Amino acid sequence: MIREWSASFQSRSPCFLFSRLGLTYIYFYCSQSAIPMTNGFLEQKSRGGYFWETRKVCAAGCSPVTLRVMSEQLTPETLLPGLEAEWERQGDIFDVTVNDQERIVLANPADIHSILTDGNYAEKGHFFGGIQLFGDEITSVSGAEWRKSRDITGPAFHRQAVKDMTSRVAAVGAKFADDLRARDGEVINVQKEMTHLSLQTILGVLFGKHVETADRLAYQTLNETLEFATLPQNEINNGDTQRKFMDHIVKLNDIAQGIIDRTRAAGHDQDSLDLPNLLVHSRDKQTGEPLDDERIRNELLAFLFAGHETTSLTMTWFHKLLEDRSDITEKIQAEVDAVLGERTPQLEDLSKLTYTRQVIDEVLRFRATVPLVSRTARDDTKLGDRQIKSGDVVVPFIWGAHKHPDFWRNPEMFDPDRFSAEHSAGRDRRAYLPFGLGNRLCIGKALALTELTVFAAALAQRTTFEMEPNDAQPAVYVTVRPDSPIHATVRSRP
Ligand code: HEM
Repeated sequence: MIREWSASFQSRSPCFLFSRLGLTYIYFYCSQSAIPMTNGFLEQKSRGGYFWETRKVCAAGCSPVTLRVMSEQLTPETLLPGLEAEWERQGDIFDVTVNDQERIVLANPADIHSILTDGNYAEKGHFFGGIQLFGDEITSVSGAEWRKSRDITGPAFHRQAVKDMTSRVAAVGAKFADDLRARDGEVINVQKEMTHLSLQTILGVLFGKHVETADRLAYQTLNETLEFATLPQNEINNGDTQRKFMDHIVKLNDIAQGIIDRTRAAGHDQDSLDLPNLLVHSRDKQTGEPLDDERIRNELLAFLFAGHETTSLTMTWFHKLLEDRSDITEKIQAEVDAVLGERTPQLEDLSKLTYTRQVIDEVLRFRATVPLVSRTARDDTKLGDRQIKSGDVVVPFIWGAHKHPDFWRNPEMFDPDRFSAEHSAGRDRRAYLPFGLGNRLCIGKALALTELTVFAAALAQRTTFEMEPNDAQPAVYVTVRPDSPIHATVRSRP
């Protein structure tokens, strides 16, 4: 049916909004065929090229999906300063309009805590309001569907599973740092290298043996895909952008499907906690049905994104924030030399790398890579004096909580010592939530902290980075990236 509609419109104007029977589709036309843009995911490829069956993107009566994510005023570069200015102007609970939609933003840790632990806000919200890159997956669904995702994938992240992963994470980190040491004198793009490192790690420790070399080389595609979620309208309307977006989605879906096919062909490995193995061989407790391939693809891609982008950016900001702080770099090196010498870190070493961990904790405070999350209110309620209506999107502003002057002394100062045991005593724990809070707490928190500590140690053992002068500022592409490249010359440590 949809194919027929698409075919009949192929000669029409470049961008055509089609709404019928309460189902809304947006079609973009390129020279040879139609590109239905759904809210980011594709059900079934047909005929090759850019021709896809699509599916319902919003229920009857809802307004058409708009691909405009940020207004001209609110760009990735201006989002954080814009929110901070509104916070200053309006106070701890403030209103902003994103894409013509009202959002209620919370900067006070006490309010954030109450929202993220309250069942009235169990449903995810959409801060950006526009394109969703994939369909149903753990980060986007709520209720029973979310529980299902979390139950299936949870075993891969249990405390013991993460402990067991430490030596594999360390091996990847050590190999990467060895290779980097051999590139003494070379100028590197720090974010690109850190993306490479975290992607290799996630694919290696979570995705298991059915990942192919070609999949490992997809980091450029992955890196660029999140940017589509925050493009302004004029760029989204550009035909080249649309073609590129579709190319990316096709490529990523093909990679995920390849992993699924190879995992299925290998049969069920009862002992393996690899994500593809858990997802492909899971069975619904009531019906005994497996997950369909579309859902598994979405889940795999969600984990790939959530699992590599955040850690690579944290490592990128780590180096940026240390560029003028040789005092901190030297303290990390001294600790690593004392605890590890030339050894690769093992599980029991992590608790001894206390200063290294303090620096990581402060990087995550100062440059929260996930700066905000969002929730939808189920019922009418109140937050303090503020009336919240059913359906309102409420936005815990993690970035703001980490800089709240009532909770942090000199919040604008980068100071790892604030996380020493002595200075941490008595701090209100609600003010620090880089991994979120409540039942949607980051499933990868323990793994991420292991990775970050191990990466920082492995690099400090073997290299120093001489940072080139740069003025990179935080820009929000869902996560917080530097707005310009950060380069460094690698020096091998004697
Ligand atoms: C520095 C690293 C990381 C940071 C700062 C981070 C941050 C976050 C935050 C703030 C949330 C909560 C989102 C919300 O409440 O709506 C979250 C959720 C999530 N994270 Fe992470 N994350 C990191 C690393 C990882 C890793 C390594 C993985 C997996 C390998 C991962 C997978 C996920 C998933 C699947 C969710 C959704 C959980 C759910 O909704 O039940 N994250 N993360």
